[in-house]
Amino acid sequence: MDQQAGPLRQERHGAVLVLVIDAPPVNALGHALRAALWQAIEVAEADATVGAVLIRAAGRTFPAGADISEFGQPPRAPQLPDLCDRIEACPKPVLAAIHGTALGGGLELALAAHARIARADAMLGLPEVTLGILPGAGGTQRVPRLIGAEQALRLMLTGKPVPAAEALALGLLDGVVEDGLEVAALRLAEGLVGRRLTATRDRREGMRDGAAYQAAVAAARLAQAGARLPAGARIVDCVEAAQLLPIEQGMVFERAAFADLVATPEAAGLRHAFFAERAAARFPEAKAEARPVAQLGVIGAAGSDLALLALQAGCPVVLVEPNRPQLVEALERIAAAQETAVQEGRLTPAARDADWERLTPALGAAALADSDLVLVADAGLLAEAAEAAPPGAVLALTGRGALPDSPRASDMIGLRLVGGRLAELAVGPQTAPEAVATARAVARRLGLLCLRAAAPGGIAGRVMLAGRAAVTHLLAQGEAPARVAGALRGFGLPQLAPEAAAEAPETGASAGRIIAQVLSAMANEGARLLERGIAQRASDIDFALVAGLGFPRWQGGPMFWADQRGLLILRRDLAEWGQEAPEIWAMAPLIADLAAQGGHFADHAAQAGSGQKDA
Ligand code: CAA
Repeated sequence: MDQQAGPLRQERHGAVLVLVIDAPPVNALGHALRAALWQAIEVAEADATVGAVLIRAAGRTFPAGADISEFGQPPRAPQLPDLCDRIEACPKPVLAAIHGTALGGGLELALAAHARIARADAMLGLPEVTLGILPGAGGTQRVPRLIGAEQALRLMLTGKPVPAAEALALGLLDGVVEDGLEVAALRLAEGLVGRRLTATRDRREGMRDGAAYQAAVAAARLAQAGARLPAGARIVDCVEAAQLLPIEQGMVFERAAFADLVATPEAAGLRHAFFAERAAARFPEAKAEARPVAQLGVIGAAGSDLALLALQAGCPVVLVEPNRPQLVEALERIAAAQETAVQEGRLTPAARDADWERLTPALGAAALADSDLVLVADAGLLAEAAEAAPPGAVLALTGRGALPDSPRASDMIGLRLVGGRLAELAVGPQTAPEAVATARAVARRLGLLCLRAAAPGGIAGRVMLAGRAAVTHLLAQGEAPARVAGALRGFGLPQLAPEAAAEAPETGASAGRIIAQVLSAMANEGARLLERGIAQRASDIDFALVAGLGFPRWQGGPMFWADQRGLLILRRDLAEWGQEAPEIWAMAPLIADLAAQGGHFADHAAQAGSGQKDA
């Protein structure tokens, strides 16, 4: 009989036992699932009526990896590498059927099976390096055995997934089907009943040319020399070990490297950044329906960068600027950016011409009559825009100010471009949920990441300014510019470093104090944004800095930095430095409150209203 409970369902189809992984949203290989898989393999092995095992997944994807939220906690048996070994050791053939994104530990699980088949639209990858770690469930040992060092290193060092067809060509897969994966996989599994397939650990296809293998390792090692993060070099070491050591020792080597890396502060910062990005995607307005946007209006020459983004995204744009010379300048800026793109080969001349045809310049706001969303890049032109834009059109203000009181307040939202990658959406008390959803949909269409703020917003910019003010103060107090620059470069914030100096990155004790002063100012400003409700959660502030202004991802963000050090320390430091320069370091009351409860900024996040993410 079929069993339906928990993260793993079991179905019997003749001699084939089908294990269906069902742990939404992404079938991450958390403890309960690992335990269920282990148990199922044990049972399959003992049951004489089972001739083959098929592992597939329900929902949107084959496992997208280990459960990242378990990292940093004490490991619970069965651990993923052991589970993979257990699957590989099963004397009955185990087949993995892959759809969606088989990533990290998910792909490693599939590689421990004896054969793999995937749907053509599946993506396979080892993105661990983006989390500051390495494939720690046998991936560094099994992958090069199948596909050689050069390709294995490419997958592991870039972290970029490859489509099924490429994975097949590389040798990671045994078959690809356009659709009908379940049926095709079952048929294949039936064909495997009673056969014994070579375990991946005993395969050598990727190791036939030993010299090429070593050359790939040497080249990758050279490329990693001087890298800021340690994971890349450890990946190279593990891939080298795959050639030099028997697999059991290679696995031990990999496991030690994984344990080292997962405990590094850089990996903790990258994990935080991963979850911060996903938390930021939760908008309270997720269920609201975006209004259709066929034409975008931009009013104010300063909006030319957004107009350009919209053109590149294939959107028809009306660009209004009543001042003729300024309009001409804005058009010239767009043309110049396009020319550069053509010269650099990023844009074909034909695409440039098509972009240009979608652009309608105008001197009067009346041209906005068909615009479904108007980006107001000049607050002085808002009244005209509000009058000209059709009813229901969203008015997105790109400036710094608060959203004005207006009969069209429900259509108004702030939309600020931060660093060319992030759109901060500042929502006013009267902004309609549909207006938020529409602005978000447009921003995404423009290729931007989105962060929700309460009006007047300006999260990333304010926090960065606080850091800059601290730097300016330190220099005014006589701190050597070279030392400040060295400390900030060492931390990964060259954009805050004073220009005069070009000292090597510094990480000593005085650098620690400089960093603490600058980061405390930033975290303090972040706390004020939380107090005022402008930022929804502390991790949103970190996300804004990382995504918008180049804060080093592996440092997590200023709020994470403060949480890691502890708010008691932050409170102590601010109490001291706030005497010296209250305009920079006077403590936000939230910090004192949280510190008094032994809390963290992240706890404040938990209390804040959590929205829902849309698909
Ligand atoms: N562990 C825990 N949670 C995960 C997760 C993972 N590996 N992958 C995704 N999630 C969670 C997300 O946090 C999110 O949760 P909320 O809805 O609560 O915010 C939810 O699953 C959906 O994720 P996305 O919003 O990212 O969904 P998407 O459709 O945009 O993307 C995805 C799906 C491509 C799988 C993407 O989530 C992703 O890239 N995930 C991470 C993949 C990864 O890095 N895997 C390697 C893990 S490390 C590892 O496996 C180590 C090892 O060798 C043992």
